[in-house]
Amino acid sequence: MDYLNFITNEIHTVIAATVDQSGLPVTCAVDIMDADENGLYFLTAKGKGFYSRLKDCGYMALTGLKGESTMSCIALSLRGKVKELGWEPLAQMLKKNPYMEEIYPTAESQRALTVFQLYEGTGEWFDLSKKPMERFSFSFGHVPDEKNGYCITVVCNGCRICETVCPQKCIDFASTPAVIEKEHCLHCGNCMEICPQNAVIREGKR
Ligand SMILES: Cc1cc2nc3c(=O)[nH]c(=O)nc-3n(C[C@H](O)[C@H](O)[C@H](O)COP(=O)(O)O)c2cc1C
Repeated sequence: MDYLNFITNEIHTVIAATVDQSGLPVTCAVDIMDADENGLYFLTAKGKGFYSRLKDCGYMALTGLKGESTMSCIALSLRGKVKELGWEPLAQMLKKNPYMEEIYPTAESQRALTVFQLYEGTGEWFDLSKKPMERFSFSFGHVPDEKNGYCITVVCNGCRICETVCPQKCIDFASTPAVIEKEHCLHCGNCMEICPQNAVIREGKR
């Protein structure tokens, strides 16, 4: 909920990705109007290409940024299933986001609007303002957490060669096998490339 509330209240406007009828990516700006334990809520108009892409694909990814510059920035990225909830939750969305009346000022003009829910998905918090940087994966809407990133297996003999190429110095050699501190790892893959034991594996989807 903390991540979903952050994207709704602290970021609010995100860049959303869908795919068109040729399977090619399309992005557009979208405002996240509300959040609860079941996901995120946003509006679109039924005449838009965005609406058609959401209906055709049933899936969306998004990224929102908060920060002045790269090194003070937090990125929140989410992907998951989308479904149309229609006009019923619209009044609540408009009440929480009164600026929408400047864009769709009358009840008649609001007829085109429809509410979508992003539900059952996964996300990542990536914070470059922290030193070392921090990243956390999460899921929402009753989806199990996915493994991702790099992991050191029992084949590791603690030789520490990977330490020389790790940009965030986030490998803990207190025990063998060494352990990657996943919350600080950039996923650059240097440790896997250089390991003479082939002890490092990549987990999860790409
Ligand atoms: C700051 C900002 C916020 C926007 N929020 C939304 C939104 O919440 N829903 C929406 O449908 N379009 C929103 N738009 C407009 C879409 O980004 C725009 O309609 C889209 O790019 C049009 O693409 P399409 O014709 O392919 O659907 C927003 C635009 C801006 C600049």
